[in-house]
Amino acid sequence: MTRLWKQEDGMREAAEALSAGEAVAFPTETVYGLGADATREEAVQKIFDAKGRPADNPLIVHIGEREELATIAADWTETAEKCMDAFWPGPLTIIVPSNGKAAKNVTAGLQTIGVRMPDHPTALKLLREVKLPIAAPSANSSGKPSPTSAEHVYQDLNGKIAGIVDGGRTGVGVESTVVDCTAEIPVILRPGGVTKEQLEEVFEEVRVDPALSDEEEKPKSPGMKYRHYAPEVPLLLVEGDDERFVEKLSFYQQEGKRVGVIASRELAEKLDHPRMAVCGSRTDLSEVAVELYGALRSYKQSDVDVILAETFEETEVGAAVMNRLKKAADRII
Ligand code: TXA
Ligand code: MG
Repeated sequence: MTRLWKQEDGMREAAEALSAGEAVAFPTETVYGLGADATREEAVQKIFDAKGRPADNPLIVHIGEREELATIAADWTETAEKCMDAFWPGPLTIIVPSNGKAAKNVTAGLQTIGVRMPDHPTALKLLREVKLPIAAPSANSSGKPSPTSAEHVYQDLNGKIAGIVDGGRTGVGVESTVVDCTAEIPVILRPGGVTKEQLEEVFEEVRVDPALSDEEEKPKSPGMKYRHYAPEVPLLLVEGDDERFVEKLSFYQQEGKRVGVIASRELAEKLDHPRMAVCGSRTDLSEVAVELYGALRSYKQSDVDVILAETFEETEVGAAVMNRLKKAADRII
């Protein structure tokens, strides 16, 4: 049975379950994570089993105090220090050399390890209570959109994990930015809550893994090679202006398809359509990030045959939004 804990009173039980080697879901500022003791292989295995996650996809380790980094990592660079100074606690994961103390299945055989300190009061409280490094990928079934509410976690993992700490909806809505800090120049392996623009305020040069824009390249972050975030029905991304979106919508409607739409307020106002998930304003992409996964999850096979989604500018957190939409999509039209 999966227990449901409300934040305050459930915290101790959640911490006890983690200490006992159970898998527990908890909120972070980005998405809900499914946590387990990163030093125990059999605890970490419960995460892979519950999610149905491929074993070659390493997990991010969460810590509540910076001193804890030395328990799982070694010889990290000045670049890593600068990232921690500027963005922790916050939605940025550093990739640093592992010291070999984390369980083997956390790093999936890599010499490096991903670590972050989340900026969420519940997550920090839990981590500081258990005083263990906690491995935690997003708390969804592998391949599905990440969970931004306890309800989403429940839909995917009820009966498969020890419990869920309910902390309401998450604030950022997309996952952390994964940054390779093993060399002097930081390299973004996965765009996320901390933007490239923000990193450029701290570093003279910031690189982006070429695999993010070129499908022929092999990604340095193993997770980026999998299909991800996919809704139950085919998702098509519509490029071009609002008029083109209107044309595409009527094309699929005329074909007799039940169409779901994911759109900004601005586009939604131009459409007279019964099934729309409205994702904030295109002038504030952070609103779109918050709503995105909930919108992808809102469409069921029983309601629609196809989803048409608007495309957004790839600046600021829009880079993460478009990265996720492209991974979730069947094709761009
Ligand atoms: O916001 C987040 O980061 C959330 C919350 C729960 O903290 N977690 C999350 O974890 O998104 P997950 O497992 O869904 O994504 C981890 C990503 C994957 O793309 C994985 O391949 C990459 O981080 N990663 C982990 N360790 C790595 C390493 N040593 N080298 C390169 N990429 C790594
Ligand atoms: Mg994930």
